[in-house]
Amino acid sequence: MPQINGNTELFGIIGNPVRHSLSPAMHNAAFASLGMNRVYVPMPVNDVAQAMSGLRGLGFRGASVTVPHKEAVIPFLDELDPVADRIGAVNTLLLRHDHEGRTIVQGFNTDWIGANAALAAAHIELHGKRVVVAGAGGAAKAVGFGLIEAGAELVITNRTAESGQELARWLACEFIELDDLAWLTADVFINTTSVGMEPNTDGIIIPPGLLGKFSAVMDIVYAPLETRLLREAKTAGCRTVDGLAMLLHQGAEQFRIWTGMAAPVQVMRAALEEALRRKAACAVCGKIVR
Ligand code: ATR
Repeated sequence: MPQINGNTELFGIIGNPVRHSLSPAMHNAAFASLGMNRVYVPMPVNDVAQAMSGLRGLGFRGASVTVPHKEAVIPFLDELDPVADRIGAVNTLLLRHDHEGRTIVQGFNTDWIGANAALAAAHIELHGKRVVVAGAGGAAKAVGFGLIEAGAELVITNRTAESGQELARWLACEFIELDDLAWLTADVFINTTSVGMEPNTDGIIIPPGLLGKFSAVMDIVYAPLETRLLREAKTAGCRTVDGLAMLLHQGAEQFRIWTGMAAPVQVMRAALEEALRRKAACAVCGKIVR
């Protein structure tokens, strides 16, 4: 914990809920490890307009934006990164002053970079590979966008065909029903749905018997860290990437935007794992950690 004083620079996360966010642990550890006089706080927000004025008025330097505000913040920005504009969602704000002292708020999206970087860190090649993404929500959109940028051949699958087809049209890629996955040959499988998340840890989005045909499987669910999908994938001989990896790498890109420096990813990963362990311990003992 830094010594908070008049020079402390303010960062945080706006969303609802944010109480259980792991981002404060990750970013505060990163700032502290580099001796930066910065703090990052969770801020539950209902009214986006007021929150955006608040960030400007209080002199915040940066913020993460999470569900359900990633789209709603866009009208309140001064500048929007072209990629975030194409995705239609912002998860990172950078606040700076122009030469006349006005606050300029810029919006970025680092979610799509997070997924690609998580796969790259695990040495999973994407260019020219066929990758199946399960899901059609905001996470699937960002992950799918990144995969196309990386030169993968993308296939979307989803429980609800209409939303899956709509996303596939947006990404200009193929859609396949979940029931038809048995007939598909592909290299990588990525789950972006909440299936398998606590408390329904028996859930798995794909029949385990099909996992052997992929060389790598990634899950964006991180509670539990080893989901049933990843456990079954390991048993089937696949390389696996867990849900903290995407969170970590999107956070590393946020850190780069806020500081102009490469992120201390090992420190950040350790902080995420520790925060997850504390959360699990807290859930077991039933206490509220303050
Ligand atoms: P996010 O924006 O975080 O990606 P979301 O928009 O709520 O979240 O999307 C959730 C995704 O998980 C959807 O693709 C959803 O499938 P539907 O479009 O059919 O609703 C998927 N999902 C959630 N629970 C599911 C379940 N039990 N089985 C299959 N898919 C599920």
